[in-house]
Amino acid sequence: MSFANKVVLVTGASSGIGASTAILFSKEGANVSMVGRNETKLRNVAEQCAAVGNKPLVIIADVSNDNDAKRIITETVDTFGKLDILVNNAGLGKPGCIADGSIVEAYDVIFKVNVRAVMQLTSLATPHLIKTKGNVVNISSAAAMTTPISPDSLSYYVSKAALDHFTRGAALELSSYGVRVNSVNPGPVFTDFLDNAGINAKFEELTNRTALNRVSQPEEIANMIAYLAGDNAVGITGSTFVVDNGILLKK
Ligand SMILES: NC(=O)c1ccc[n+]([C@@H]2O[C@H](COP(=O)([O-])OP(=O)(O)OC[C@H]3O[C@@H](n4cnc5c(N)ncnc54)[C@H](OP(=O)(O)O)[C@@H]3O)[C@@H](O)[C@H]2O)c1
Repeated sequence: MSFANKVVLVTGASSGIGASTAILFSKEGANVSMVGRNETKLRNVAEQCAAVGNKPLVIIADVSNDNDAKRIITETVDTFGKLDILVNNAGLGKPGCIADGSIVEAYDVIFKVNVRAVMQLTSLATPHLIKTKGNVVNISSAAAMTTPISPDSLSYYVSKAALDHFTRGAALELSSYGVRVNSVNPGPVFTDFLDNAGINAKFEELTNRTALNRVSQPEEIANMIAYLAGDNAVGITGSTFVVDNGILLKK
């Protein structure tokens, strides 16, 4: 699968799934624009991209900040001349419960990044994606399709369900311009997600909750993202692709 001459924007590329995705697209010949807030981690991933492909564009930015969102799109198009693929991967969790009154604080933090920023970046990217007949891949979660594993993760689950509905609606609106929109919905994946969310658990603990008795590596999710972004998926839009080792089967 070659992405030579394609311009790919990956948010949350400093870590985990986004980092693997940036490296994979670089390896396949794309010009990659990488976004994150942690400069040290982002530059480290950029070096890995450059080692296997073109030198990526590094954009230190917060996707939930409107000015940063505009800058992300402008810098990408100014540098590479166009945009073919937007991967809305940046995301986070934050514990919050209904009963102790902390749910709205978690909702505000989570929705700003997992939903609002995706809608904002997709809207800003759309004029450029129309020109290239490009596409969007949103990184959702199996969480969108089931009840929370623990009560304090409800806002995260609601955010990913909202994201899936956005994927379908955006796919319908943008279909008339020849722009596709899909999502990948992972189950547990070994990344820094739990640490970054302040959740005191380990991904290993989720292994026996999956039908296949395993947790994914981020590269497995990157492969599905690349498939959906590529020309072999020309007929796929508005779809949510579960890569969860069968965790939903066991719920
Ligand atoms: N790991 C899993 O089990 C799993 C399962 C299902 C879905 N997902 C989804 O996969 C996506 C990637 O998560 P991950 O597992 O790879 O976790 P991760 O290792 O914590 O990576 C999250 C990425 O998002 C970026 N990010 C967060 N807030 C941001 C902001 N405001 N502005 C810019 N970048 C921001 C982080 O970069 P900085 O810190 O540099 O800003 C980081 O690069 C998320 O949408 C997550 O919900 C993960």
